[in-house]
Amino acid sequence: MNRFDFAGRTAVVTGGAQGIGAAIAKRLQASGAKVAIWDLEGSPRVDVADQTSIESAVKRSMAELGRIDVLINNAGIAGPSMPVVEYPVSEWQRVIDIDLNGPFLCCRAVVPHMVKAGYGRIVNIASIAGKEGNPNAAAYAAAKGGLIAFTKALGKELAQSGVLVNCVTPAAAQTAILEQVTAEFAKYMLSKIPMGRFVKVEEIAALVCWLASEECSFSTGAVFDISGVRATY
Ligand SMILES: NC(=O)c1ccc[n+]([C@@H]2O[C@H](COP(=O)([O-])OP(=O)(O)OC[C@H]3O[C@@H](n4cnc5c(N)ncnc54)[C@H](O)[C@@H]3O)[C@@H](O)[C@H]2O)c1
Repeated sequence: MNRFDFAGRTAVVTGGAQGIGAAIAKRLQASGAKVAIWDLEGSPRVDVADQTSIESAVKRSMAELGRIDVLINNAGIAGPSMPVVEYPVSEWQRVIDIDLNGPFLCCRAVVPHMVKAGYGRIVNIASIAGKEGNPNAAAYAAAKGGLIAFTKALGKELAQSGVLVNCVTPAAAQTAILEQVTAEFAKYMLSKIPMGRFVKVEEIAALVCWLASEECSFSTGAVFDISGVRATY
């Protein structure tokens, strides 16, 4: 495993208590970064869909870490698998609140600190679903498609600030999120990945950590595919 240079750097990973976020946090730490995890499962509990919770988390992390060099917007849920016409409005709202509004609230609160410091790396964890549109997962696909567009917009806004904003679009990984969808749906997603296997969380962490590093210096507002030869749903 290559070691990225995060000596003296600090990072926030949302949803870092398990799955992809935990793999990213582990690799950042192994590369020298000090990492704060913002998660519903953490202590104190942080809810990315709640503006007050995020504002308190920023204050706490700024006090503990001194600054925030890296923000990984990873917290997310899949929501139920069902057709649009049956999709409960409250579930639609919950998926959009966590998967799209969450990254907006986190960026809104963290970016001013990064701009003031003249340095920052933001990586949003989108999904191939946001490019392709998953049947029976319209809320998730819409939220992730929105996150891709949000990444491009914010990347342009911050182009000359020293703060770079990118997103990754993984295919399906075997994490707890798959327990939220039916076994049939998980099988369907796997069948659509040309490499014929799930992406490993460590593979996603490797790409994300490079995008979060100082070495990534001329890519922003961009979308990085990690889908085993472009999964097509
Ligand atoms: N696993 C996949 O197949 C896959 C593929 C592409 C993209 N993604 C995306 O990767 C990210 C991580 O997914 P994962 O597979 O590791 O899922 P996971 O369910 O294993 O982990 C998600 C984490 O987010 C946290 N979380 C959920 N809602 C939150 C909230 N409101 N506030 C704070 N934390 C919250 C959970 O407590 C959990 O620790 C998600 O954004 C997901 O959409 C996953």
